[in-house]
Amino acid sequence: MLPREENELLTQIGADKPLGQMMRCYWIPALLSEELPEPDCPPVRVRLLGEDLVAFRDSRGWVGLLEEHCAHRGTSLFFGRNEECGLRCIYHGWKYDVDGKVLETPAEPAGSTLKDKVRQTAYPCKEAAGIIWSYLGPREKQPLLPNYEWLKLPAENLYVSKSIQDCSWLQGLEGECDSSHLSFLHKNFTGERPRGGGDGALYAADSAPTLEGIEMDYGVRMLSCRRIDASTVYLRVSNIVLPCHGFIPTGGVKGNPEGYTIHSHVPIDDTHSMRYNIHFRRGRSIDADERQHDDEIGPDYRKLRNLENNYLQDRERQRRDNFTGMGSIFLVHDSCATETMGAIYDRSREHLGVSDMTVIAVRKFFLRAVHAVADGQEPPHVIRTEAANDVRHVACIATKIPASVDPKQYVTEQLKKDKYWEP
Ligand code: FES
Ligand SMILES: [Fe+2]
Repeated sequence: MLPREENELLTQIGADKPLGQMMRCYWIPALLSEELPEPDCPPVRVRLLGEDLVAFRDSRGWVGLLEEHCAHRGTSLFFGRNEECGLRCIYHGWKYDVDGKVLETPAEPAGSTLKDKVRQTAYPCKEAAGIIWSYLGPREKQPLLPNYEWLKLPAENLYVSKSIQDCSWLQGLEGECDSSHLSFLHKNFTGERPRGGGDGALYAADSAPTLEGIEMDYGVRMLSCRRIDASTVYLRVSNIVLPCHGFIPTGGVKGNPEGYTIHSHVPIDDTHSMRYNIHFRRGRSIDADERQHDDEIGPDYRKLRNLENNYLQDRERQRRDNFTGMGSIFLVHDSCATETMGAIYDRSREHLGVSDMTVIAVRKFFLRAVHAVADGQEPPHVIRTEAANDVRHVACIATKIPASVDPKQYVTEQLKKDKYWEP
């Protein structure tokens, strides 16, 4: 269990809260590139870390992320005109560029200098992997975008989607830490290959994996070992990466070297989060059947099966052939498990066991990072120089290994050997 104060520390993301300040040390996903498909297209509302913002793509294709309310008298810029390299408020015509600079105040008399004295809050944006990333911290402390290999891949090697989660970001993130739930929540009885990867037979072989969380410079590396038979262990290595990402091996024992999956749990506010699903393949384009969520998420990024409609659970299927009665989409299973805890789960009421070891390790790591920020220090994994921007050791592995091999040793050797992680 987690005392109430610590639970609050890890779930309150306002700019004046320690976690909010920690999140504002990093580039985080703000929206998908597809939401702003072309220059001068309609702006979109973005709620991020409890702030109401408006994103727009100007005539040059550059993205701006502005506070929603016009600096003049507060009208929503969502309704603004996106024209000639700026977003113009429809109330009195003030016009802003992507940096929040006031370009025009046409209701003021000629020669007015008011526009030079006012600035709209604006956050810098970068586009990579079909995502518009933004940094909501102080301008002078802006870090580098980490060198994750998937941020540089061509669009056809990536499948990126997002969906709103009706709960705190931390519930989503903790779902990434917990390998033991694979043997239950994602189990199906038909042999049908679950969409979202994985190998049900391996998960089923041992429902009480041995877990270990290892603190790294980027977050926590998590090992889970399932005994398949007397001589074989199924090893999964996944990672929690600051500030809100899970890097998860995909596809049973064939997880490497093709690629892996990233689930980012970005706080919308204290009680909602956006789950980004990033799936990539190194040497090839994504297959149609790997576009897992196309028919599960509506155009408003709400899941079609959601908390309101009880995830369209089919009790007959649950009895017959499917553990959850919710089909084979991991996203639906995970959402049901985490959203039904409530908007912010009161972790002082939980009863943790050995199977929660990695959850505990991750909480500890985040609590330390949050305390560090509250004490005026920088949290881990804020990257400031190209020399320090080597993140190849954030490795995802899913493989069978001989039971005689030490899994930690195995990971170290793989990291040395694999061309993706070593020069
Ligand atoms: S409120 Fe936006 S221009 Fe007046
Ligand atoms: Fe899951």
